[in-house]
Amino acid sequence: MSTYFWFEGIPFSSIAHIREIIEESHDKFVIRDEDTVIVSYPKSGTNWLIETVCLIQTKGNPKWIQSVPTWERSPWIEIQKGHLTLINKEGPRLMTSHLPFHLFPKSFFRSKAKVIYVIRNPRDVLVSAYFFQYNKNLIDNPESLGTYIEWFLKGNVPYGSWFEHTRDWLSMRGNDKFLLLSYEDMKKNTRGTIEKICDFLGKKLEPDELDLVLEYSSFQAMKENKMSNSSHILNGVIINGLVLMRKGVAGDWKNHFTVAQAETFDKVFQEKMAGFPPGLFPWK
Ligand code: A3P
Repeated sequence: MSTYFWFEGIPFSSIAHIREIIEESHDKFVIRDEDTVIVSYPKSGTNWLIETVCLIQTKGNPKWIQSVPTWERSPWIEIQKGHLTLINKEGPRLMTSHLPFHLFPKSFFRSKAKVIYVIRNPRDVLVSAYFFQYNKNLIDNPESLGTYIEWFLKGNVPYGSWFEHTRDWLSMRGNDKFLLLSYEDMKKNTRGTIEKICDFLGKKLEPDELDLVLEYSSFQAMKENKMSNSSHILNGVIINGLVLMRKGVAGDWKNHFTVAQAETFDKVFQEKMAGFPPGLFPWK
């Protein structure tokens, strides 16, 4: 895998990342009590959640989301540009990370900062990632979805194994500075999810403000918003052809997996995610 470097067992794209920044994110980066961090495995609805949280902060006013790009509103801790922006930023910060639990900033665990972790059916995560990266030199060319499924199940994809990422982060369940959301619930009950986020962040929104959050964070609105639909500047390099706002639905994997691929995936899922209560994962 020539396009990766490995750090503490995790493959990172050499185009998107620098080893020293990953290292510093873990050891030295200081998370402060008043910070909020959006955490996810890539392609789980991260950008949608960022848009929602930004709109909650402005009580539905779209000015911020329409004038400042996503990666400046909620910079990525482990990407150089975001890392430097965050270090120099005062006051309560909103930030994003895809880091696995064991590489997340150590300082978080001593702080009162809040994490919102969003999960998504890993089959949809896989399909979304496959089409996002395919032919873009961010990863080796998988040639086919079947090959990408093999890599995904082994964890040989950016940020490593979905199963380990999710298992490890879910160990925070029940902690009052941790909110667990899912892409599927966000789709099914968007308003209810926004209210959950408001409660968690201690924000009170009027019903008409909530309507505005809903309106401006919709798939269509985000697709049309130039500040949100192309968060593809990595370390200052624009990667052409990456489409973030692809389909925006739950269950698209059914259009792409063969029956045999679905069975293999199920088997690995059952093995790796054994022990979690039934119903925790809101997808079929
Ligand atoms: P698809 O590729 O399945 O369409 P991330 O932000 O973590 O990279 O996740 C990207 C996925 O979230 C993409 O999924 C994208 O379409 C979907 N997404 C982004 N904004 C959305 C929105 N407002 N509503 C529904 N899905 C959204």
